[in-house]
Amino acid sequence: MSAEKVTVSVIKADVGSVVGHSRPHPSMLEASKGILADAQKQGIIEDFYVTRVGDDINLYMTHYKGKGNKDVHGAAWECFQKAAKIAKSMKLYAAGQDILTDAFSGNVKGAGPGSAEMSFEERGSEPLLFFMADKTEPSAYSLPLSKIFLDPFTTTGLVVDARAKKGFCVEIQDVIDNKKVVMKSPEETLSILSLLGDTSRYAIKRICSRAGIGPACVVSTDKLNLTAGKYIGKDDPVCICRAQSGLPSVGEYLQPFINPMLVAGWMRGSHYGAFYPCSPEDSDPVYFDGPPRICCLGFQLNEGKLQGLEPLGTKNGEHIPVDFFKSDTWDLARANAVKASRFIRSQGPFMPSILGPEEMEYTSRPEVLKELTSRFERLD
Ligand code: 13P
Ligand code: 13P
Ligand code: MG
Ligand code: MG
Repeated sequence: MSAEKVTVSVIKADVGSVVGHSRPHPSMLEASKGILADAQKQGIIEDFYVTRVGDDINLYMTHYKGKGNKDVHGAAWECFQKAAKIAKSMKLYAAGQDILTDAFSGNVKGAGPGSAEMSFEERGSEPLLFFMADKTEPSAYSLPLSKIFLDPFTTTGLVVDARAKKGFCVEIQDVIDNKKVVMKSPEETLSILSLLGDTSRYAIKRICSRAGIGPACVVSTDKLNLTAGKYIGKDDPVCICRAQSGLPSVGEYLQPFINPMLVAGWMRGSHYGAFYPCSPEDSDPVYFDGPPRICCLGFQLNEGKLQGLEPLGTKNGEHIPVDFFKSDTWDLARANAVKASRFIRSQGPFMPSILGPEEMEYTSRPEVLKELTSRFERLD
């Protein structure tokens, strides 16, 4: 009989922030911790960690209830309701931003918050990485994950680790048409890249081992503007990764972020900027509502519980993760991200500083065109 599968869920939302789209008030995080501590006491979840990236609250939860579980999602929903209420009482900016419905229907899908979940048999040692991004969209992970899982010049493990060499199944979502396709690396690598290159439409949802290890990573691909039917905020996606022993190593996961990558979504959700790797503590958007932040926190999993650097006997939930991008090793990457962002900003309201017309979250163009209807003349 196979062992019971553990589920790791990250559910996240922006429900209001102090000074524009900067950061949630600490009391919103505290309230979330209290609610998840109760959920843990009730046996809904095994363990949890509450953090944030920029203005997004991220709830990490471990449990044995499987993906899409009503009670687990319900606990997250309660956190966001409570935090939104606090935000409203303080008149914070965009209070309740990502809450699209009054009625919880058993799952946060389609209700505004983003979620990434994976279920697997816990290995003898289970290193987990939690990437969190602010001011960008789900397809922002496509380039780094392609490097990590498809490029042997990035991940030497794809060559030297016999199980990683067997390749991976890559689930790609068409985020506009709401459909998916599963493709196989290494043999379909070039076709995979052919799709993923269109970051406005395709995004990696999940990658699984072809050597029987199960899921390697999962991304929250909820597109808030499509769900809501109008611009609300960016999706600010998370990505959960399992590392080592037939999967990319921790270092192989982190490596691509040393080079600047342009991603869509900063300033009014309408500009390209470079990913800025940093600690959650440094994730306030301080320059042109950005640059888009990427954080990475690590935990070991221990019988369904999170193990970080906290002292022995620490209360559950009060964890200390390894904060990978905090290190000054990343100073050069940060400086290059600012340099690249500044360069693209110098193009002002011109593409490719701003997004293409279908992707602009704000645009006055339809109005301008309407006003000009009678003034436009046909060319012979
Ligand atoms: P150790 O030999 O230190 O365990 O490291 C192996 C490894 O996978 C490093 O990426
Ligand atoms: P958030 O999606 O992080 O709320 O940011 C919105 C925005 O466009 C800020 O300029
Ligand atoms: Mg916001
Ligand atoms: Mg945000």
